[in-house]
Amino acid sequence: MANGSKLENNDNTNNISLEGKKIKKIKNKAADNPDQFWSECAKNLVWFKQWDKTVDWNPPFAKWFQGGKINAAHNCLDKHIESEIKNKAAIIWEGENGESTTLTYNQVYCKVNQLANALKKLGIKKGDRVTIYLPMIPELPISMLACARIGAIHSVVFSGFSSQSIADRANDSKSRIIITADGGYRRGKTIPLKDITDDAVKKSPHVEKVIVVRRTNKEIAMGEGDLWFEDIINQESNLCESEWMDSSDPLFILYTSGTTGKPKGVVHGTGGYLTHLYNSAKWVFNFVATDIFFCTADIGWVTGHSYVVYAPLMHGVTEIMYEGAPDFPDQGRYWDIVEKYGATILYTTPTALRAYMRHGDDIPNSFNLSTLRLLGTVGEPINPEVWLWYYNVIGKQNCPIVDTWWQTETGGIMVSMCSGIENIKMKPGSGTFSLPGIEIEIVGEGGEKVESGKKGYLTIKKPWPGMLLSLWNDDERYKKTYWEKAPNRYFAGDFAYVDKDGYIWILGRSDDILKVSGHRLGTIEIESAFVSHQSVAEAAVTSKNDEIKGETIIAFLVLKSGFVSSEQLNREMNEHIRNTIGPIAVAEKIYFVNKLPKTRSGKIMRRLLRSIVNKETIGDITTLEDEASVEEIIHEINQIKKYI
Ligand code: WTA
Repeated sequence: MANGSKLENNDNTNNISLEGKKIKKIKNKAADNPDQFWSECAKNLVWFKQWDKTVDWNPPFAKWFQGGKINAAHNCLDKHIESEIKNKAAIIWEGENGESTTLTYNQVYCKVNQLANALKKLGIKKGDRVTIYLPMIPELPISMLACARIGAIHSVVFSGFSSQSIADRANDSKSRIIITADGGYRRGKTIPLKDITDDAVKKSPHVEKVIVVRRTNKEIAMGEGDLWFEDIINQESNLCESEWMDSSDPLFILYTSGTTGKPKGVVHGTGGYLTHLYNSAKWVFNFVATDIFFCTADIGWVTGHSYVVYAPLMHGVTEIMYEGAPDFPDQGRYWDIVEKYGATILYTTPTALRAYMRHGDDIPNSFNLSTLRLLGTVGEPINPEVWLWYYNVIGKQNCPIVDTWWQTETGGIMVSMCSGIENIKMKPGSGTFSLPGIEIEIVGEGGEKVESGKKGYLTIKKPWPGMLLSLWNDDERYKKTYWEKAPNRYFAGDFAYVDKDGYIWILGRSDDILKVSGHRLGTIEIESAFVSHQSVAEAAVTSKNDEIKGETIIAFLVLKSGFVSSEQLNREMNEHIRNTIGPIAVAEKIYFVNKLPKTRSGKIMRRLLRSIVNKETIGDITTLEDEASVEEIIHEINQIKKYI
């Protein structure tokens, strides 16, 4: 095994110390003198000007490495093109249709500079926002890095989202440009990204220009403000000076679901975020020069931002970027990619693993996966049996597994085994310990620390460099969402407990956020989308445990008078959700009911709905306004009108 980490209950592990000496030293240093510790971490980056102060902590706002000047694109590219890494493969890209391209660090550098120059010509300057709505093609990281180079703030919108979602995000951030493609491939189908963008632009008054990457051969209409990506970059020089950014200048906005209707714009800074990423990747993945890193996340989500774009490129490793679905054209796609390019690290989601596991061991066993040295998971809790399958069948008991817990807001990994610096027993289903410098405490309702073995809320005691700066244009919501629920702590919104050995176990969300196939969605956001349909008076959304997706969306709808439930209406509703949020938010089941269970103060009891759909004990319903609604719902679920 690569670093000696062993599986719990394995007889050979008795002589292995719980924590390696190296990590103890690092963690102690971080705890004793956090300023000095983070300052040393920041020195791993390239700065134009060194900072004067490690952190200016004005709770709950932190400015990391104050006075320092830095550029994210410079740290991902320039640093390498001045070294022997210049002609090394940065991105090995594979299209869903089997096409493949490799871009060296120098090639990425040239394209980024050309696009940066083109954006400047279009009047984009430091602080302007650019929305990027692209599939998983190299132009996506290139666009992000081009923005970073000139100090523009990128806002990437996942290419599975609808035109309404793009418009909401482009309006909130007042983006002046959208970068998209003529289309994208998903499970063999072409997604009309440009048409969807055109619809969004009609509702986005700030957007002046749309830049279009050629991905398919589809004929598309180019309007007055539309420009071909290739045309604008071909005219440009491949040299563009990096903007000197203040360390706490925003690098990007990434909209993510919260517990209210509208997604919130999580804002990440530059120097702190990059410091967290560089060091977390070093500790967790222990990148070496020969690594071929395969992170399967879409860049539209935070894992893709942090561990497809910024962390691997800063480290100068070669990474694989795959455009399409894990099951296209068959159930061996990831394994085929691992074999073909010799991936050494695979970082993926429990959902993908559950789906593969269902198809048995023969498929992965028919590929040569022996290049793998480390496996990782992210985004949702991993069931111990899936963990073991990953460990035995994919890793052949030779690869440690890093189960990494973190969030869009934390910027980078917060809890994980650090494969580079520690040597511990792994426990399937536990992320193990927090990273150096990260102080996690599990607390009860009143903010008091709970004893080991007891479930509580996961909180973070001290600021860390990767933490969000704030929410875009909404400092109040930032304070309220993260810093008021537990005194002087960051409140993550997850349930967790710590076992007797100090291992952290994440138990899932404590709020109205769902994780469907690892994708983060807000129940209230989906309810608002339902209610925006002309026939819906009220909506309640909850989730049901699902063997593959983790959880699936279940909706209860009360129709306005004059509307009756039907299969046709059910289909219309799915279409409506597809158009307002995107296909990922479509409900697994919709139940039409006469009433929703509410408390006497009028709040929908989603907890109760969740228990009912999962056939769990219902618990305390004394605050319920009308018990009849529960009976009706149970009857509805068990008996009638189940539309799929
Ligand atoms: C969940 C994804 C268990 C958690 C990086 C968190 C996890 C939310 C894990 C953030 C894990 C993430 N084990 N649960 N290893 N990783 N989560 O913002 O509920 O899309 O709060 O960031 O995913 O989701 P987000």
